[in-house]
Amino acid sequence: MQLKELQAVKQRYGVVGNCDALNRAVEIALKVAKVDLSVLIQGENGVGKEIIPRIIHDAGSRKGKKYLALNCGAIPDGTIDSELFGHVKGAFTGSVDSREGYFSAADGGTLFLDEVGELPLQTQVRLLRVLETGEYIPVGSSEVKRTNVRIIAATNVDMARAIAEGRFREDLYYRLAAISISMPPLRERGSDIDILFRKFALEMSERYGIPPVRLNEAAKQLLLSYSWPGNVRQLKNVAESMSVTVDEREITPDILARFIPTDTSHTQMVVGTPLHPPVVTNGETYNADRELIFQMISKLSHEVEKLRTEVVQLKQQRHHAPTSDPTTPAFLSYHASDSAAMPLDEAEEIIDDFHGTAVDDLRTKDDVEKELIRKALLRHNGHRKQAAEQIGISERTLYRKIKEYGLDDL
Ligand SMILES: Nc1ncnc2c1ncn2[C@@H]1O[C@H](COP(=O)(O)OP(=O)(O)O)[C@@H](O)[C@H]1O
Ligand SMILES: [Mg+2]
Repeated sequence: MQLKELQAVKQRYGVVGNCDALNRAVEIALKVAKVDLSVLIQGENGVGKEIIPRIIHDAGSRKGKKYLALNCGAIPDGTIDSELFGHVKGAFTGSVDSREGYFSAADGGTLFLDEVGELPLQTQVRLLRVLETGEYIPVGSSEVKRTNVRIIAATNVDMARAIAEGRFREDLYYRLAAISISMPPLRERGSDIDILFRKFALEMSERYGIPPVRLNEAAKQLLLSYSWPGNVRQLKNVAESMSVTVDEREITPDILARFIPTDTSHTQMVVGTPLHPPVVTNGETYNADRELIFQMISKLSHEVEKLRTEVVQLKQQRHHAPTSDPTTPAFLSYHASDSAAMPLDEAEEIIDDFHGTAVDDLRTKDDVEKELIRKALLRHNGHRKQAAEQIGISERTLYRKIKEYGLDDL
């Protein structure tokens, strides 16, 4: 592909940056636009995944037809099937009218399913069917309908893990990811970070008629060494809020540090740079790492629980195994009071100790998590979408946790 063509497309869609991985993503988008395969865009929160489906739709034969986008993470489990496939009058309590779903509305065009990793399993089954046959049945109906929709999906979920944990169907994954496009995290885009910052600062300057903020050399190094867990979205927020809340126009590391948490977990050491500014955090850390650790503790606790059950079962088997039974394997042929059975008792004790600690950690996790959610909600004046974005969880998960922690009044 001609570089000129690529640059023109990027300019048309306001895609800023020049790193190879970003260019490759746009290039693949343009190539696959011509074929009608499903595309799955993968990447962390805030990397710019939503730009890609638009590029694909506009560059393909469906241009001029409907382009609809649906955020699967923002719709309650109970209504998502009806959103996607429609429902007939009286399909469920309160459905006084029939309703057209996205698959019908987008017929002939493109449907972008954002946060597809959040789809409930029952909806995944329906989605697989429509992808395979082009047919679906509206909720409460018995009439099979046909549709011709190109699906482009996006997710920030680690799909391999979601499949391993049984949260996402493997067959659907392969169906969606006929073509896979990966959007690089901002921390891997080198000097693009600075270019993006300048773009956002300039936009603010033009919008509000104020001189643009500029980073001095040391601040620029800090900007480049930060790990940007919230990616381009976070960088944009920083540039925008800095532009309007700070009097100075030349930004020093001290000023920048007020907008990004500069503890070591979020900055990579930059070799040869003398700059290690004072650690000033305003407590507004982005919590992707923590969320991951919590999930791991949770999983570990679950594993330990399973191990405990196995040990208890084994003990019971030994206890009941008659020593004379010739079908009983030799190693089980002793009574629980035999000294040889001791290791199992010890194992149980160790597991209990360990499990206790894991459960304690989980309790702490709940406290920390509740506090994080409370702060994010307060910071965004109760705006749940923004709070979820800041924390790096889906809106649906946030709703569930708000209920769980009784934070409804925020
Ligand atoms: N390369 C880029 N150039 C300019 N703006 C970008 C770029 N990537 C992302 N953005 C902006 O960052 C924000 C987050 O992008 P979005 O597509 O919503 O992220 P995602 O869907 O991956 O979470 C949007 O405001 C988007 O316009
Ligand atoms: Mg998004």
